[in-house]
Amino acid sequence: MTSGLFITFEGGEGAGKTTQIKRLAAALGNCVVTREPGGTPEAEALRNAFIENNGQNWPPEALVMLMFSARILHTQNLIMPARMNGQTVLCDRYTDSTRVYQGYAGGLSLEKIEAIKELAIGGFEPDITFVLDIDVETGLKRADKRGPGESTFEAKDMAFHERIRQGFLTIARENPKRCVVINASEDENTIAEKILNVVKLHWHNRGDGHHRQLDG
Ligand SMILES: Nc1ncnc2c1ncn2[C@@H]1O[C@H](COP(=O)(O)OP(=O)(O)OP(=O)(O)O)[C@@H](O)[C@H]1O
Ligand SMILES: [Mg+2]
Repeated sequence: MTSGLFITFEGGEGAGKTTQIKRLAAALGNCVVTREPGGTPEAEALRNAFIENNGQNWPPEALVMLMFSARILHTQNLIMPARMNGQTVLCDRYTDSTRVYQGYAGGLSLEKIEAIKELAIGGFEPDITFVLDIDVETGLKRADKRGPGESTFEAKDMAFHERIRQGFLTIARENPKRCVVINASEDENTIAEKILNVVKLHWHNRGDGHHRQLDG
Protein backbone atom coordinates (compact mmCIF):
# COMPACT_ATOMS: atom_id res chain seq x y z
CA MET A 1 0.00 0.00 0.00
CA THR A 2 1.19 3.53 -0.72
CA SER A 3 1.87 5.40 2.49
CA GLY A 4 -0.09 8.56 3.13
CA LEU A 5 1.42 12.03 3.19
CA PHE A 6 2.35 13.76 6.43
CA ILE A 7 1.54 17.44 5.96
CA THR A 8 2.20 20.10 8.59
CA PHE A 9 0.95 23.67 8.90
CA GLU A 10 3.18 26.24 10.53
CA GLY A 11 3.15 29.97 11.11
CA GLY A 12 2.44 32.54 13.77
CA GLU A 13 -0.82 33.06 15.60
CA GLY A 14 -3.78 34.00 13.43
CA ALA A 15 -2.03 33.04 10.20
CA GLY A 16 -4.89 30.69 9.31
CA LYS A 17 -3.43 27.25 10.06
CA THR A 18 -6.56 25.80 11.63
CA THR A 19 -8.77 27.34 8.95
CA GLN A 20 -6.70 25.89 6.11
CA ILE A 21 -6.36 22.45 7.71
CA LYS A 22 -10.15 22.23 7.81
CA ARG A 23 -10.34 23.32 4.19
CA LEU A 24 -7.75 20.81 3.02
CA ALA A 25 -9.32 18.00 5.06
CA ALA A 26 -12.68 18.73 3.45
CA ALA A 27 -11.11 18.77 -0.02
CA LEU A 28 -9.13 15.55 0.44
CA GLY A 29 -11.74 13.50 2.23
CA ASN A 30 -10.30 10.56 4.13
CA CYS A 31 -7.47 11.97 6.23
CA VAL A 32 -6.40 12.37 9.84
CA VAL A 33 -6.48 15.87 11.35
CA THR A 34 -4.34 16.41 14.40
CA ARG A 35 -2.37 19.06 16.27
CA GLU A 36 0.65 19.72 18.42
CA PRO A 37 1.42 19.78 21.20
CA GLY A 38 -1.04 16.95 21.70
CA GLY A 39 -2.81 14.71 19.23
CA THR A 40 -3.11 11.61 21.40
CA PRO A 41 -4.54 11.31 24.95
CA GLU A 42 -1.09 11.08 26.57
CA ALA A 43 0.31 13.91 24.49
CA GLU A 44 -2.77 16.07 25.19
CA ALA A 45 -2.12 15.49 28.93
CA LEU A 46 1.39 16.87 28.43
CA ARG A 47 -0.10 19.81 26.52
CA ASN A 48 -2.34 20.55 29.48
CA ALA A 49 0.61 20.42 31.89
CA PHE A 50 2.12 23.22 29.86
CA ILE A 51 -1.07 25.22 29.29
CA GLU A 52 -2.11 25.10 32.96
CA ASN A 53 0.52 27.54 34.20
CA ASN A 54 0.67 29.28 30.83
CA GLY A 55 4.20 28.02 30.30
CA GLN A 56 5.34 31.05 32.28
CA ASN A 57 7.95 29.53 34.55
CA TRP A 58 9.18 26.88 32.15
CA PRO A 59 12.81 27.26 31.09
CA PRO A 60 13.10 26.76 27.31
CA GLU A 61 15.02 23.50 27.89
CA ALA A 62 12.08 22.12 29.88
CA LEU A 63 9.63 23.25 27.19
CA VAL A 64 11.65 21.55 24.46
CA MET A 65 11.76 18.31 26.43
CA LEU A 66 8.02 18.49 27.06
CA MET A 67 7.25 19.23 23.40
CA PHE A 68 9.40 16.33 22.21
CA SER A 69 7.99 13.95 24.84
CA ALA A 70 4.54 14.73 23.52
CA ARG A 71 5.83 14.53 19.93
CA ILE A 72 7.30 11.04 20.43
CA LEU A 73 3.95 9.73 21.66
CA HIS A 74 2.03 11.52 18.91
CA THR A 75 4.42 10.42 16.15
CA GLN A 76 4.71 6.78 17.20
CA ASN A 77 1.10 6.21 18.19
CA LEU A 78 -0.79 8.24 15.64
CA ILE A 79 1.14 9.86 12.80
CA MET A 80 3.31 6.93 11.70
CA PRO A 81 0.60 4.24 11.96
CA ALA A 82 -1.89 6.40 10.04
CA ARG A 83 0.64 7.07 7.27
CA MET A 84 1.54 3.42 7.02
CA ASN A 85 -2.15 2.74 6.75
CA GLY A 86 -2.28 4.92 3.65
CA GLN A 87 -3.95 7.87 5.33
CA THR A 88 -2.83 11.44 4.83
CA VAL A 89 -2.14 13.21 8.13
CA LEU A 90 -2.69 16.96 8.50
CA CYS A 91 -1.00 18.37 11.58
CA ASP A 92 -1.40 21.84 13.11
CA ARG A 93 2.22 22.68 14.13
CA TYR A 94 5.10 20.21 14.51
CA THR A 95 8.88 20.28 15.01
CA ASP A 96 9.32 23.59 13.17
CA SER A 97 7.26 25.31 15.87
CA THR A 98 9.70 24.05 18.52
CA ARG A 99 12.63 25.24 16.40
CA VAL A 100 11.01 28.65 16.06
CA TYR A 101 9.39 29.28 19.46
CA GLN A 102 12.13 27.80 21.65
CA GLY A 103 15.03 28.32 19.21
CA TYR A 104 14.80 31.33 16.88
CA ALA A 105 12.55 33.29 19.26
CA GLY A 106 13.21 31.56 22.59
CA GLY A 107 16.98 31.77 22.52
CA LEU A 108 17.82 28.07 22.86
CA SER A 109 20.55 26.92 20.47
CA LEU A 110 19.28 25.22 17.33
CA GLU A 111 22.02 22.59 17.66
CA LYS A 112 20.68 21.54 21.05
CA ILE A 113 17.12 21.37 19.72
CA GLU A 114 18.26 19.21 16.79
CA ALA A 115 20.11 16.89 19.20
CA ILE A 116 16.94 16.32 21.21
CA LYS A 117 14.93 15.96 18.03
CA GLU A 118 17.34 13.29 16.83
CA LEU A 119 16.90 11.37 20.08
CA ALA A 120 13.12 11.75 19.95
CA ILE A 121 12.10 11.12 16.33
CA GLY A 122 15.38 10.68 14.46
CA GLY A 123 15.27 11.96 10.89
CA PHE A 124 11.49 11.97 10.71
CA GLU A 125 10.16 15.09 8.97
CA PRO A 126 6.89 16.00 7.24
CA ASP A 127 6.49 15.34 3.51
CA ILE A 128 5.16 18.86 3.05
CA THR A 129 5.20 21.82 5.41
CA PHE A 130 3.03 24.83 4.62
CA VAL A 131 4.43 27.98 6.21
CA LEU A 132 1.55 30.44 6.40
CA ASP A 133 3.26 33.79 6.32
CA ILE A 134 1.57 36.99 7.37
CA ASP A 135 2.70 40.31 8.80
CA VAL A 136 2.65 40.22 12.58
CA GLU A 137 0.02 42.90 13.08
CA THR A 138 -2.54 41.33 10.74
CA GLY A 139 -1.93 37.91 12.26
CA LEU A 140 -2.45 39.13 15.81
CA LYS A 141 -5.58 41.05 14.80
CA ARG A 142 -7.01 37.86 13.31
CA ALA A 143 -6.09 35.85 16.40
CA ASP A 144 -7.82 38.50 18.56
CA LYS A 145 -10.95 38.43 16.43
CA ARG A 146 -11.17 34.71 16.88
CA GLY A 147 -11.59 35.33 20.60
CA PRO A 148 -9.58 34.41 23.66
CA GLY A 149 -8.07 30.96 23.38
CA GLU A 150 -5.51 28.99 25.30
CA SER A 151 -2.52 30.53 23.57
CA THR A 152 0.43 31.22 25.79
CA PHE A 153 2.48 33.22 23.39
CA GLU A 154 0.05 35.92 22.27
CA ALA A 155 0.84 38.31 25.07
CA LYS A 156 4.50 38.63 24.10
CA ASP A 157 5.79 41.67 22.30
CA MET A 158 5.92 42.47 18.61
CA ALA A 159 9.67 41.86 18.37
CA PHE A 160 9.09 38.32 19.60
CA HIS A 161 6.41 37.75 16.96
CA GLU A 162 8.70 39.16 14.29
CA ARG A 163 11.39 36.66 15.33
CA ILE A 164 8.75 33.94 15.02
CA ARG A 165 7.90 35.06 11.51
CA GLN A 166 11.54 35.30 10.41
CA GLY A 167 12.33 31.94 12.04
CA PHE A 168 9.69 30.16 9.95
CA LEU A 169 10.89 31.93 6.79
CA THR A 170 14.49 30.89 7.53
CA ILE A 171 13.47 27.25 7.97
CA ALA A 172 11.52 27.43 4.70
CA ARG A 173 14.54 28.86 2.86
CA GLU A 174 16.80 26.15 4.26
CA ASN A 175 14.35 23.33 3.45
CA PRO A 176 13.00 24.23 0.02
CA LYS A 177 12.01 20.66 -0.85
CA ARG A 178 9.83 20.23 2.20
CA CYS A 179 8.54 23.74 2.85
CA VAL A 180 6.14 25.87 0.85
CA VAL A 181 5.65 29.47 1.94
CA ILE A 182 2.07 30.64 1.49
CA ASN A 183 1.12 34.31 1.47
CA ALA A 184 -1.48 34.09 4.23
CA SER A 185 -2.77 37.63 3.74
CA GLU A 186 -4.72 36.49 0.67
CA ASP A 187 -8.32 35.44 0.97
CA GLU A 188 -9.21 32.09 2.44
CA ASN A 189 -10.41 30.54 -0.85
CA THR A 190 -7.32 31.54 -2.81
CA ILE A 191 -5.05 30.08 -0.13
CA ALA A 192 -7.06 26.86 0.05
CA GLU A 193 -6.80 26.43 -3.71
CA LYS A 194 -3.03 27.00 -3.70
CA ILE A 195 -2.51 24.52 -0.89
CA LEU A 196 -4.62 21.87 -2.60
CA ASN A 197 -2.67 22.33 -5.83
CA VAL A 198 0.66 21.84 -4.05
CA VAL A 199 -0.60 18.66 -2.41
CA LYS A 200 -1.94 17.29 -5.69
CA LEU A 201 1.31 18.08 -7.48
CA HIS A 202 3.37 16.47 -4.72
CA TRP A 203 1.19 13.39 -4.85
CA HIS A 204 1.50 13.18 -8.60
CA ASN A 205 5.30 13.55 -8.49
CA ARG A 206 5.96 11.03 -5.73
CA GLY A 207 9.04 8.99 -6.44
CA ASP A 208 7.55 5.64 -5.48
CA GLY A 209 5.98 4.90 -8.82
CA HIS A 210 2.44 4.88 -7.51
CA HIS A 211 0.21 7.59 -8.86
CA ARG A 212 -2.85 6.90 -6.83
CA GLN A 213 -5.70 9.38 -7.11
CA LEU A 214 -6.36 11.57 -4.13
CA ASP A 215 -9.97 11.51 -3.06
CA GLY A 216 -11.96 14.53 -4.14
N1 LIG B 1 -7.25 34.22 4.64
C1 LIG B 1 -7.92 34.78 5.65
N2 LIG B 1 -8.36 36.05 5.56
C2 LIG B 1 -9.01 36.64 6.59
N3 LIG B 1 -9.27 36.04 7.78
C3 LIG B 1 -8.86 34.78 7.94
C4 LIG B 1 -8.15 34.09 6.90
N4 LIG B 1 -7.84 32.83 7.33
C5 LIG B 1 -8.33 32.76 8.60
N5 LIG B 1 -8.93 33.91 8.96
C6 LIG B 1 -9.57 34.23 10.25
O1 LIG B 1 -8.51 34.59 11.15
C7 LIG B 1 -8.73 34.03 12.43
C8 LIG B 1 -7.54 33.12 12.79
O2 LIG B 1 -7.51 32.00 11.91
P1 LIG B 1 -7.02 30.57 12.43
O3 LIG B 1 -7.64 30.26 13.75
O4 LIG B 1 -7.22 29.61 11.32
O5 LIG B 1 -5.45 30.86 12.64
P2 LIG B 1 -4.35 29.94 13.31
O6 LIG B 1 -3.13 30.07 12.48
O7 LIG B 1 -4.89 28.57 13.53
O8 LIG B 1 -4.12 30.67 14.71
P3 LIG B 1 -3.51 30.05 16.08
O9 LIG B 1 -2.05 29.83 15.88
O10 LIG B 1 -3.71 31.14 17.08
O11 LIG B 1 -4.27 28.80 16.38
C9 LIG B 1 -10.06 33.32 12.35
O12 LIG B 1 -11.06 34.19 12.81
C10 LIG B 1 -10.24 33.02 10.88
O13 LIG B 1 -11.59 32.95 10.51
MG1 LIG C 1 -5.13 27.44 15.25
